[in-house]
Amino acid sequence: MTPCFTRTLAATALLSIASGVLSPAQAQDKLKVGFMLPYTGTFAALGVAIENGFRQYVDEQGGKLGGRTIEFVKVDDESDPSKAADNANKLVKRDNVDVMVGTVHSGVAMAMAKVAKDNNTLLIVPNAGADAITGPLCAPNIFRSSFSNWQPGYAMGKVAADKKIKTAVTLTWKYAAGDESVKGFKEGFEAGGGKVVKELNLPFPGVEFQALLTEVAALKPDAVYVFFAGGGAVKFVKDWAAAGLGNSIKLIGAGFLTDGTLEAQGDAAKGLLTTLHYADDLTNPKDKAFRLQYAKTYKLQPDVYAVQGYDAAQMLGAGLAAVKGDVKNRDGLVKAMEAARIDSPRGPFTLSKAHNPVQDFYLREVTGKVNRNVAIAVKGLADPARGCKL
Ligand code: PHB
Repeated sequence: MTPCFTRTLAATALLSIASGVLSPAQAQDKLKVGFMLPYTGTFAALGVAIENGFRQYVDEQGGKLGGRTIEFVKVDDESDPSKAADNANKLVKRDNVDVMVGTVHSGVAMAMAKVAKDNNTLLIVPNAGADAITGPLCAPNIFRSSFSNWQPGYAMGKVAADKKIKTAVTLTWKYAAGDESVKGFKEGFEAGGGKVVKELNLPFPGVEFQALLTEVAALKPDAVYVFFAGGGAVKFVKDWAAAGLGNSIKLIGAGFLTDGTLEAQGDAAKGLLTTLHYADDLTNPKDKAFRLQYAKTYKLQPDVYAVQGYDAAQMLGAGLAAVKGDVKNRDGLVKAMEAARIDSPRGPFTLSKAHNPVQDFYLREVTGKVNRNVAIAVKGLADPARGCKL
């Protein structure tokens, strides 16, 4: 560009602001969104789905939110909590992002929340369910478009008790998400008269399930409740089917067990019952349009992670629209995000005071290659937000 042409452009922008055609924010640079997501490891597909969903919403808005063109930078967090603070600091201090979007793994997300708090950077969590994020770590600048680990666990516990299941063993990766998912399940299940007889674990992201399955067989519970996701969930469901335990013991779980995994799990997943805030055959028009567009753009079926990415962008869009792209107006932005009713493919939802979705949980059954919606397990379930002082 010639210097003269650049000067003319700058003069035009100034004139536009003076005449009220453009707001100061619209005349600003692009708005920078920093994705911190897993692009490698057991959660790699989940990170990609979240980014795809987020981009889909931005594309539907012509590449802009609140009048600002969106620019992306990204970092692979590898689902490694030991690298999380450094990675988040890179986005905030080196890349100067306006908002961080991440991540999948609860341990990594808790480190991100601390960095977001220390720097007062806006953070939208598009998956990780760490209860603390909308509990003791809750803050005006931290939002979640997904769920708390307690929510799907609690919903499944209630369903299991209602189905007159009496005894259950729990089995999960030993980290915040697994522990909290089991806690939620136990709360719902035992309140309804069930009893968790044993809690089994293995380190994240291990997939050596054989010894644990042998233990389950010896314990002979009515059901096993599990939290696994991504590549680990594929391996677990296949190992479970191969062990032949399903004839005498019911396998149940938080819906991540069968979400985005059904192609790879094949017949091994047939008939599994899970609870989640999404299903593959919802009938609302928003979901129909979302699924069609996603399949067309990415040549893939969407899953819960894609929905959560899409809704993270919707939440940001609602905030930016209210302040006409002026992210410096943090109070106005936060207020608008807090008040938004998000028209999600999962069904509409609002945010709790702690900034976590208040949403319906579906009971789903794997039928062919879909998680079929059987019933609403719990309507309008809000996380208890224990320890949040907002
Ligand atoms: C988490 O670590 O919070 C987590 C990871 C994967 C999921 C759900 C929750 O599918």
